[in-house]
Order: sequence, then structure tokens, then C-alpha cells
Amino acid sequence: MRPLRAVEQNITRVSRCLLSGGLAVLPTETVYGLAADATNPDAVQKVFEAKGRPAENPLIVHVGSVEAIEFWCSNIPPGLDALAEAFWPGPLTVILPKHPRVPDIVTAGLDTVALRIPRHTVTLAVLEESGLGLAMPSANVFTGLSPTRADAISPEIIAKIDMILDGGPCRIGIESTVLNLVGDPTILRPGLISEEEIASVLGFGLSASTPTERRSPGQYRKHYAPKIPARLVETLGDTEAGLTFTYSTNPNQIHMPTDSGNYARKLYAALADLETRDLKEILIEMPPRTSEWDAVWDRITKATNTS
Ligand code: TXA
Ligand code: MG
Repeated sequence: MRPLRAVEQNITRVSRCLLSGGLAVLPTETVYGLAADATNPDAVQKVFEAKGRPAENPLIVHVGSVEAIEFWCSNIPPGLDALAEAFWPGPLTVILPKHPRVPDIVTAGLDTVALRIPRHTVTLAVLEESGLGLAMPSANVFTGLSPTRADAISPEIIAKIDMILDGGPCRIGIESTVLNLVGDPTILRPGLISEEEIASVLGFGLSASTPTERRSPGQYRKHYAPKIPARLVETLGDTEAGLTFTYSTNPNQIHMPTDSGNYARKLYAALADLETRDLKEILIEMPPRTSEWDAVWDRITKATNTS
């Protein structure tokens, strides 16, 4: 299956496909997503099957406007308007009380729903033309690397979907920040939008949450992992393979940026590249322990988890 060019005619084709219960891979600014009509339980079921995703792990509903958020939740908490103004469209997902009309399969039976307005003109055009809310997890096989380019969608996923819409390389490269707004606000998954930025928009500090306390059912300890075992190290030896901050000393070393935003943009693509080579192990040099690296640390810790 060839990815479709993002022209008007193809946006219409993809919108029709989704409206009739099909599955399409769409670009977002974070990673590519595997989309289905969120009001259609049969279509959503196919998303879980295509990814091999456990039914207990709920999906994010993507919508095209703040007005559309109201359709999916039963209550808009104070603070949402300010967050929407500051961060949407963009890489922030919020957890809100679910409206009874949201099919249980989307939320894995929870009484909350995850919502996001993505910042990608192509997918915003599909949302507008179809008028749908789209249940859209990252377009990877369960626990694998999320694709950040249309040509990085794995054959297992391609075999199960109807269309791919090419929106170019993803600008951010790692998944959205997930913010729980039911009860005291807490970060369930770190992302480009930091806890400090959210706190400054809300006007108060967030409750502390340690990874083990995180309420998100999708917080598996092994995730985002390449097919070849990966391990964190201080520095790569000259003949070793992996991701390095210094100059590569052999073709199996990929030079990574020293600022966290550019590093995140390149991370999955670099691991996907190394995963196709004949290597025993992929080593990842540890980034600094400062807060701007939190989201990267979350992904590389999970990518290297062996338990
Ligand atoms: O950047 C992104 O968020 C990408 C793009 C495609 O938008 N999507 C994405 O979806 O990363 P997914 O399904 O791979 O990750 C969604 C995360 C999971 O950890 C899931 O458990 C959590 O959001 N989640 C979804 N609904 C939830 C809910 N009601 N309560 C708590 N966590 C929820
Ligand atoms: Mg995912």
C-alpha cells in the first residue's frame, strides 16, 4: 500500500473511508496515528486488533475544535479553557469525565475519556471534512516504536488498514503529554509540553505523581522498544552500535542532537533505522537528568526495559 499524497481529493477519500468504518493512518505533529470513527465500536475494535493492543488500554479521541470537546465529555473542569487557549491545537491530551455517548470500547470501560486537538493541517482537514471524532492510538504494533514518517509504518499494521495519508515527517516525534484533569491535575505521560508550562497556565502546581502511581492504564514498563535489545550506557565504545551525543566512530552509531526537542524528533526514526540492521544490541547514551529531558527519559527507559 502506497501512502496517499495530502491533496484535497485524498483527504476526501480518507474521510469517506473513516465514515464507512474503515481504518486509516494519519499524520500528527507528534507521531502517526491509526484512526477510526470513535462512535463506531466495530471500527474501534479493528484498531485494537491491528495493533495487538490489550482491551484494557484506552484510546485518545481526536477532535478538530474546542466546541467538539463538549460532545465527548460530561463536564468541562475549570482550567480547560486556559489550557486549550495555550496548547491546542497541539501535543496535549487531557483526561475528562466521559459522556455516556462515548462507546465503552474507546475508554476501556473507564468513566473518563482522553481528548486531544492535534496540530497537523492534514489531519485537521480530515476531522473537519468528516465531522468525526477519531479514536487514534500511535500507529505502531503494541510496545513497538511509533512511526514518525509515512514510510515507517510496519507491514503488520499495513496489512490491517485501508489507507495511509502522508503528512511528511512528524515535527515533535514523541507522543503527547497526557494530563489527568479528573481530581487533582497530574501528568500521566510526559511529553513536549512540560509540567512547569501546564502549572503556569493553570496558576498552581500539579500534584506529584511517580511513574508507579500513574493512573494511566497504558503505562506499560516495556514500550516504544526496538526489536533488537537496547540498553542505556554512559558512553558508547568505538566499535559499539547505538545512539551517541559525540561523533560516530562507526556506521552503526547515530549522532544525536544535544537539545531535548531535536533529540525527541529524531529518537524513534534513529531506533527504527538501527532495528533494521544485523546488531546484537543497541546502546543508548544517557542524556542529562534535567527536567527538559523527562519525556525522552520516559521513552528510553521503556525502550530499554527488559522485565
Ligand atoms: O501524541 C499522541 O498522543 C499520539 C497521536 C497519534 O495523537 N497518540 C497516542 O495514543 O500516543 P496512544 O494510544 O498510543 O497513547 C494514549 C495514552 C495511553 O497511555 C493510554 O493509556 C492513555 O493515553 N489514556 C487514554 N485514555 C485514557 C483515560 N481515560 N485515562 C487515562 N489514560 C488514558
Ligand atoms: Mg502508543
